[in-house]
Amino acid sequence: MTLLARHHLPPKEGDYNLRNYLEACETFSWAEAEKAFSWKKTGRINMAHECVDKHVEEGYGSKTAIHYINGEDEYKLTFKEVKEKSDHLASVLRAHGVKKGDIVFIFLPKHPDCYIAMMAVIKLGAIAGPLFEAFMEEAIRDRVADCDGKFMITDHVLGKRIPKNDLPSLEKIFITSSPEHCEAGEISLPAELAAIERESDITEWLDMESGLNIHYTSGSTGKPKGVVHAHRAMVQQYLTGKWVLDLKNDDVYWCTAHPGWVTGTVYGIFAPWLNRATLVVNGGRFDARSWYRTLEKTEVTVWYSAPTAFRMLMAEGNDLQKEYDLSLLRHVLSVGEPLNPEVIYWGEETLGKRIHDTWWMTETGAQLIVNLPSEVIKPGSMGRPFPGIQVAILDDDGNILPHGEVGHLAIKASWPAIMREIWKNEEKYHSYFPFPGWYLSGDLAILDEDGYVFFQGRSDDMINSSGERIGPFEVESKLIEHPAVAEAGVIGKPDALRGEIVKAFIVLRKGYKPSDELLEDIRQFVKKKLAAHAAPREAEFIDQLPKTKISGKILRRELKARELEKINKR
Ligand code: WTA
Repeated sequence: MTLLARHHLPPKEGDYNLRNYLEACETFSWAEAEKAFSWKKTGRINMAHECVDKHVEEGYGSKTAIHYINGEDEYKLTFKEVKEKSDHLASVLRAHGVKKGDIVFIFLPKHPDCYIAMMAVIKLGAIAGPLFEAFMEEAIRDRVADCDGKFMITDHVLGKRIPKNDLPSLEKIFITSSPEHCEAGEISLPAELAAIERESDITEWLDMESGLNIHYTSGSTGKPKGVVHAHRAMVQQYLTGKWVLDLKNDDVYWCTAHPGWVTGTVYGIFAPWLNRATLVVNGGRFDARSWYRTLEKTEVTVWYSAPTAFRMLMAEGNDLQKEYDLSLLRHVLSVGEPLNPEVIYWGEETLGKRIHDTWWMTETGAQLIVNLPSEVIKPGSMGRPFPGIQVAILDDDGNILPHGEVGHLAIKASWPAIMREIWKNEEKYHSYFPFPGWYLSGDLAILDEDGYVFFQGRSDDMINSSGERIGPFEVESKLIEHPAVAEAGVIGKPDALRGEIVKAFIVLRKGYKPSDELLEDIRQFVKKKLAAHAAPREAEFIDQLPKTKISGKILRRELKARELEKINKR
């Protein structure tokens, strides 16, 4: 990869919340950022209060908090309505025993109910565990069992995927549908809301270290790990919302991620609501026309999405967007996977906008490397460290490498949004800090002389498909549960549209013959049991997997090297 981007894109004219990056870096302090919060005066801390209730108290109750759109279904909720609905739901949950520190899983589609549930859980001081709507039985079991989850909020459709009999810890399942849709033992929320009065003074006051949300995330080894964040994260989430998303009072903001992914929670709920922006919630799946229609119809001004989505729009050609009035759109951002320079040039040409790449991770809790609207973009770079954040590229021994050399992307610890813990896994938590004072991301990168960071890949086997983190071990474990599969090795294969796709190498058990039907059956097995996005898009039968001599571990690197060689030969 070359460091010299074809050409740099200068900032466009605009009245940005942060006008000068270098100046901000010099004078920066997190303490200054804290002044925006009501707890500076009252001492009463709770994320849900800062996101919703505070705005109502300050006279913005009639402002639109959520603009929901899903095909023909469309409506708005004000901050006052979100406050009252989340107060009411919190009252019901409390009556059912939910209290501070409990984990409450939220397994709902991209729908206002999901956002209200997040606020209700957080109001009680409980830890919100949003689950991606495509998760199937196994993905749910892994997560709920890992933290002995007691509570789950879901609907009668997704709820069918919960393997209740395998989850003895799960005491109560709340269903957002009426009683006739509930199975025995499930609790109908509409019925409970009718029976239990709304308490308006329900918010639990917390301290900065109290648990806020838990997101399970994949790595190259083992099952997904529970990354827990604390309420202190709000300081950085607010300030990145203000400076990077550039949110102002009149903004209508659309983050396309589901809250089950960290982006959908932190930048789909917290950061925009801390900045009092209106959220657009689009319930539908990706479809180029309906996405452009959403931008037009809900009058989106600030838009945060992912490279795969931009590439899919790009694949539609340069004319489709002309059918829509996108004149209100003023700021576009991207996250989750490498943003190709070509996509940035496409954005310039077709939308007339620069696409601002940002880098962060579930574990970091907020953006750390960013392209600010007031600064030059070097296409191919993820941007520069947010003020107050120090980045370095380290060699394998923890020494700082000079500009231009590839090494481990590391961040000087600590910062307000960094994870509080990995649930019940101290060893894993410490593994992020192999060298004193540095958080190691697992990404490989280059830093140039201006401080711009260029992503180069991962140092481990983690797969990133369409911006979604997929652990090869999780997929391999599921594959070998299929009766025909003896062994499986899973890698990320480079893909022009999705960044990477999941590719599986499968050794069959004796008595099974390779066939296309069998491959499809195995693929469907993973899709139905684990999650659609984790199912191998490509699979290949192989006689034997390459393994390490001593421990007999699958050499995914070798599989990947062979695959890359095949691609290069073509
Ligand atoms: C990758 C998502 C290239 C990276 C917020 C990181 C990126 C992982 C970028 C975290 C980017 C994220 N360019 N790669 N701008 N942003 N990544 O936890 O490998 O789902 O370590 O958090 O995504 O994924 P996660």
